[in-house]
Amino acid sequence: MSRFLFPRWSNALLPFVLVVGAIAPLYVTLLVAYGFSPKTLEGQYQPVQPVPFSHALHAGKLGMDCRYCHNTVENAAHAAVPPTQTCMNCHTQIHRESPNLAKVRDSYVTGMPIEWIKVHKVGDYAYFNHAAHVTRGVSCVECHGRVDQMEVVHRAQPLSMGWCLGCHRNPVDHVRPPEAVFELWKDTTTTWSKDERLGLINRFDIHPNEYCSTCHR
Ligand code: HEC
Ligand code: HEC
Ligand code: HEC
Ligand code: HEC
Ligand code: HEC
Repeated sequence: MSRFLFPRWSNALLPFVLVVGAIAPLYVTLLVAYGFSPKTLEGQYQPVQPVPFSHALHAGKLGMDCRYCHNTVENAAHAAVPPTQTCMNCHTQIHRESPNLAKVRDSYVTGMPIEWIKVHKVGDYAYFNHAAHVTRGVSCVECHGRVDQMEVVHRAQPLSMGWCLGCHRNPVDHVRPPEAVFELWKDTTTTWSKDERLGLINRFDIHPNEYCSTCHR
């Protein structure tokens, strides 16, 4: 039991706890002054990207599959962000003079990657794995929202521990047939009946667990 109460990494958190304690009064001041909470900040976190790339256009209107660009998402912990070459498959032909694509062309010529700003990130002390979810029928939409409708990607969910556990405790409302994982426009609970979803839980033996060591290793 003590293994779960005091895992190895808890020592590493001590400085963190102290720092938070030290800056808490400052935070309260900011809260009073600006009236925001970290939750709303998290929920709407939407950095300005170096290139005005639109998912609403590419994944929505043009109907491109997520895997065309995020091609590791079914096999690896991380979903790869595409290299410039992927963009140039089309943009050597389409909009070749567009100023909106100037940085893409520069990157192609110099070989320096485009510096996309990361939108989703869990702390280094937490472990997340895309393949473990996607292959078990958890759709991108459950965690990222309707990316296929976003001009600029923003964070749709808090990515907090409470949020992770909320689903791990009740996966039946969040699973669909794995082949429909990329169909973001389908709503999980209205497209598949509870019986169908329970069937999936049994068929794939889906039992996400709550042991600390699942996500803190
Ligand atoms: C044409 C290539 C392309 C396609 C298709 C595409 N994406 Fe992306 N995606 C990108 C690029 C480039 C970025 C980084 C820039 C940005 O955030 O917009 C990105 C970023 C993201 C992010 C944010 C990553 C972060 O920084 O946290 C998510 C989530 C995402 N994509 C989900 C999807 C989903 C879901 C689909 C399918 C519905 C999809 N993408 C289809 C190219 C693509
Ligand atoms: C499969 C082909 C394809 C790929 C791959 C692709 N695009 Fe596009 N992109 C298009 C098409 C088609 C349009 C134009 C649609 C229109 O004008 O109606 C477009 C438009 C754009 C525009 C708007 C250009 C303007 O001046 O209006 C930007 C910016 C853009 N793409 C960035 C990217 C980036 C960055 C990538 C790589 C992550 C990428 N695209 C990958 C097909 C593609
Ligand atoms: C169960 C929740 C969940 C699902 C399902 C999910 N993601 Fe993510 N995604 C995350 C989290 C959490 C992160 C931040 C990961 C980190 O910091 O290690 C993330 C990060 C990303 C990133 C940034 C690169 C990375 O891996 O850190 C991209 C791109 C992305 N997701 C695309 C997708 C696509 C495409 C799908 C569907 C095929 C998808 N995600 C399904 C939770 C999810
Ligand atoms: C929308 C539902 C959902 C959310 C949100 C979610 N998970 Fe999961 N998670 C699952 C399901 C379903 C599985 C697969 C369980 C199985 O295969 O038995 C899983 C499996 C995992 C696994 C693999 C477990 C193993 O035994 O290898 C890890 C690690 C994990 N989740 C971490 C996270 C973290 C960290 C977060 C939050 C950032 C998160 N999950 C959010 C549904 C979810
Ligand atoms: C399903 C995945 C998951 C499980 C299981 C899990 N955690 Fe977490 N935990 C997270 C995530 C994700 C974060 C937040 C990361 C971030 O803020 O970026 C976190 C954050 C924390 C933090 C930092 C403070 C905070 O609340 O943000 C502590 C301490 C912690 N977890 C302890 C535990 C302990 C103890 C257990 C076992 C009882 C546990 N966790 C089980 C995913 C998990």
